Amino acid sequence: MCGIVGYVGERPASRLLIDGLRRLEYRGYDSAGIAVLTDPTNPGGHSLTVMKRVGHVAQLAAAVPEDLGGNSGIGHTRWATHGGVTEPNAHPHLDNDGRIAVIHNGIIENHAILRAKLVEEGARFRSETDTEVLPHLIRKFYKGDPVAAVRAALSVVQGTYGVAVLFADHPGLVVGARNGSPLVVGTGEGESFLASDPHALAPYTRKIVYLEDREIAAITPLGWEITRLDGGATNHVVETLTESWGGGDRGAYAHHMLKEIHEQPESLTRCLSGRVVPEEGGARLGGLDLGPRDIAGIRRIGVLGCGTSFHAAQVGASAMEQLARIPAFAEIASEFRYRNPVIQQDDLFFAISQSGETADTLGAVKEVKVKGGQVMGVVNVVGSTIARTCGRGVYVHSGPEIAVASTKAFTSQVAALLVAALSFGRTRALGPHEGRAFGEELLRIPEKVASWLERPGPIADAVELLVGGRFVFFFGRGVSHPVAMEGALKLKEVAYIPCMSYPAAEMKHGPIALIDHTTPVVAIVPEDMMRDKTLSNIQEVRARGARTVVVHTEGDREARKLADVSIPVPATNLLCSPLLTVLPLQLFAYHAGLTLGRDIDRPRNLAKSVTVE
Ligand code: F6R
Repeated sequence: MCGIVGYVGERPASRLLIDGLRRLEYRGYDSAGIAVLTDPTNPGGHSLTVMKRVGHVAQLAAAVPEDLGGNSGIGHTRWATHGGVTEPNAHPHLDNDGRIAVIHNGIIENHAILRAKLVEEGARFRSETDTEVLPHLIRKFYKGDPVAAVRAALSVVQGTYGVAVLFADHPGLVVGARNGSPLVVGTGEGESFLASDPHALAPYTRKIVYLEDREIAAITPLGWEITRLDGGATNHVVETLTESWGGGDRGAYAHHMLKEIHEQPESLTRCLSGRVVPEEGGARLGGLDLGPRDIAGIRRIGVLGCGTSFHAAQVGASAMEQLARIPAFAEIASEFRYRNPVIQQDDLFFAISQSGETADTLGAVKEVKVKGGQVMGVVNVVGSTIARTCGRGVYVHSGPEIAVASTKAFTSQVAALLVAALSFGRTRALGPHEGRAFGEELLRIPEKVASWLERPGPIADAVELLVGGRFVFFFGRGVSHPVAMEGALKLKEVAYIPCMSYPAAEMKHGPIALIDHTTPVVAIVPEDMMRDKTLSNIQEVRARGARTVVVHTEGDREARKLADVSIPVPATNLLCSPLLTVLPLQLFAYHAGLTLGRDIDRPRNLAKSVTVE
């Protein structure tokens, strides 16, 4: 979603800010802007030069003169919440005199009341945004001390924010603060940085300090100071970013999404290696810090996430029940957090998030903690807010996922949850032989994924059928139902094709009324104990004219006969099957998007990291 970069030092600020914004592009945005302190020799002091553009960072970069000058500045990518996608609504926003510039991620919930009052007091608003109250508020409280002014302004604000503020009267200073929206300080020799994502700073510094909620940072070329918004002291350490995030390199692939689909053999290997221990029939996940006695005491497991991560959570919850015989459920984090859930001491929760920054999932984590429950992160981005808030958990190690539509993170999330289920299962229900067999099969999955990706079958035929439909139905049973949901979500996101997904048996309870020759159906039917029933459901939709794409186990002739397009995947056990059956669905979405001329890596209206509710 929105992105923040701030800089103070010796380098030309505008180029560095634009480079940082480019690294944040994958998060999703619709406009971009920078504010830089220029004219140092002006008798009236520095000026704030603000430039904004709707569209891509490249358009902003083209507009910013090479010789703009200035060594302090802030830059922002905006994903519209309050007010349309226009240049006036793009950040930075200014106070009346153009001496204070603010960029902001998050939502100021009491902006309407604040705005009305500020207007009465003479503030001139130029945008429809909630953010614009901030420069006017800071101006109101500014008496010469910039940090005190930001602190005072934020004390009357309700909502979430990561902010960066630049004052024309204070060259060599950027003030930042966070509450519910990530912000880090980067430190270098004679320069300091701010960013909403440390990877924006990777070429310049890997020395990072993570702000916590309700903290404020003042950065100068000489260093940084972080205090609490209520004035209290903090105790931060500088951490070193070890992960390499890259960002721009698509290699030989036309899109990040395709590259990431093809990276799954390696990402799965990274997720599994050293964790599955077949000789013990079990698995080791040191980050959970749970011994056999702790695992034996778990009464219920909740797996929380949003979107694709929720689909992984559903597979994970099934695996926990099947392998460990622990009652388990999956729930959409945004619903969980507001339904006042019953949480008991012997419950264990997992919060699933690729980015580790999803506001709804973070809210659910906090709800579990407030109620005294235990919650573990299953996160891709190391050091992200959810990972740090949970404190314990599993990194899925899928590597950087740049395309907005999640692919390799999904399979790594599922794999990590299967490892956890195996580990709990070995303590609770599985004997060494069953545990070993499951672990060995899990370790074979990356090779099966690689061999399938080498010869994926008639994807083009399937895509032709899907793009020609009025809308597309996806169905499956058991763990194939979350896979069907994931396939439908991918096709909506990347190709903008209307889709529905159902547990296969639900079709006859209503949705089948929609079926005719214009509604292609994608059926996920691996060889499991529900296969025959799903085959009957395929017959039912075919009898009503639907053409079918059937994803089935290699060698299943009966399934093949029911398919207009048959996509076989390698055989595996039921719980591992989502790691294979999801692959064709990812490729359907990619190629359908390509056929329809969509912006594959950055679909309209979407953001990679959803940091607002
Ligand atoms: C879909 C997709 C989203 C995310 C969701 C949660 O392709 O990527 O549905 O899965 O926004 O994001 P994370 O996993 O970062 O919490």
